[in-house]
Amino acid sequence: MTKKQTWSQRFESALHPAIARFNASIGFDIELIEYDITGSQAHAKMLAHTGIISHEEGEILFTGLEQIRQEYHQGQFQPGIDSEDVHFAVEKRLTEIVGDVGKKLHTARSRNDQVGTDTRLYLRDQIQQIRQQLREFQGVILDIAEKNVETLIPGYTHLQRAQPVSLAHHLLAYFQMAQRDWERLADVYSRVNISPLGCGALAGTTFPIDRHYTANLLHFDHVYANSLDGVSDRDFAIEFLCAASIIMVHLSRLSEEVILWASEEFRFVTLKDSCATGSSIMPQKKNPDVPELVRGKTGRVFGHLQAMLVIMKGLPLAYNKDLQEDKEGIFDSVNTVKACLEAMTILLQEGLEFRHQRLATAVTEDFANATDVADYLAARGVPFREAYNIVGKVVKTSIAADKLLKDLQLEEWQEIHPAFAADIYEAIAPRQVVAARNSYGGTGFVQVREAIINARTQLSGK
Ligand code: ARG
Repeated sequence: MTKKQTWSQRFESALHPAIARFNASIGFDIELIEYDITGSQAHAKMLAHTGIISHEEGEILFTGLEQIRQEYHQGQFQPGIDSEDVHFAVEKRLTEIVGDVGKKLHTARSRNDQVGTDTRLYLRDQIQQIRQQLREFQGVILDIAEKNVETLIPGYTHLQRAQPVSLAHHLLAYFQMAQRDWERLADVYSRVNISPLGCGALAGTTFPIDRHYTANLLHFDHVYANSLDGVSDRDFAIEFLCAASIIMVHLSRLSEEVILWASEEFRFVTLKDSCATGSSIMPQKKNPDVPELVRGKTGRVFGHLQAMLVIMKGLPLAYNKDLQEDKEGIFDSVNTVKACLEAMTILLQEGLEFRHQRLATAVTEDFANATDVADYLAARGVPFREAYNIVGKVVKTSIAADKLLKDLQLEEWQEIHPAFAADIYEAIAPRQVVAARNSYGGTGFVQVREAIINARTQLSGK
């Protein structure tokens, strides 16, 4: 039998050791210790401020808690399984340090509002760190884009060559995804940053507490208006996991592209040694482990989102121990997103070399300029659908003759349609094909340069 628990006075015997282990969250919620201490310090101040305890007692609690923080930093405080969770661990240590006054800390509070407070304080910090990482990721994308406005790369639909695009334009698509991620996290933050402290176990408290006072000390924007909701709401966790999942979708798509680009079939990029690994058996290989791992790790973050939704769906109000299951998924998602953002930023910054020669050839070796021939005719009065059909036939006969559009003689063009003139060759040259797509948001160089300027402005935005 284990030692008796904090709550064990109404129990006849102690917990079975296996059940104690099963019940405990200290193994993972120790991650919250800093926030638990900070939250408790605010609570102690409020207790003194409202006269629920004396100012001297408030001081003693505050200082004792600060000592636990130091002990933890110095590796001297490592609570074990007998503490059940981080909240009990801190309270127990506090009482060891300051004596019986420590037992007053939990006045007008429950672990239910406490754990909600801690988790929100933690997530708040992590969201800001992830947003900062997104900024760095975007900065690196923008640097590469700036150097590659006029580098052309085949653009695809259905993974079939469609139309060539500016490499900068292609990369800026990921800049925009990251921009939405950055904004989305700010929105999530606004609902993370609401204080449940003072909701008590579920119904509020009989003590004359001041919830706004603690919320202010902890820099929460608002307090929960309903105590039952305050202790049992995990919407903020679902929203965070959803935002984290969307970040992973974006990183995983980019990963997939890098993996394709690095293949012998594409040969659009070379992986630098600092970000690639070899095979234990095939000496010629250089593997894209970084993007593969990012793509693979995406699965676990999606899994945590799904788990959180399922944890919540059948829960009656208010707190249920099921909610203890929120933490590992949140922590793992935070760590995974941060690690993946860091790795992808490094990969882009120094792990990839675009093969300019190969890209330049790639955009001339297909029929990706076919739309431009149709547009050429349409601009000269041929209805687009008719022009489309004409060019379809040209592509068919060219493939049969093993020719590209640029190889057709002017007479051949004019046999197809009298509207063709010598300027058709210029119109279907890859550079012109890209430059001509000058509609807003398109790949035309003028647009891309404008997009880069706008992106710089977005990047400096708060
Ligand atoms: N360790 C618990 C959790 O993470 C703390 C709250 C426990 N509350 C309770 N009434 N058992 O959710």
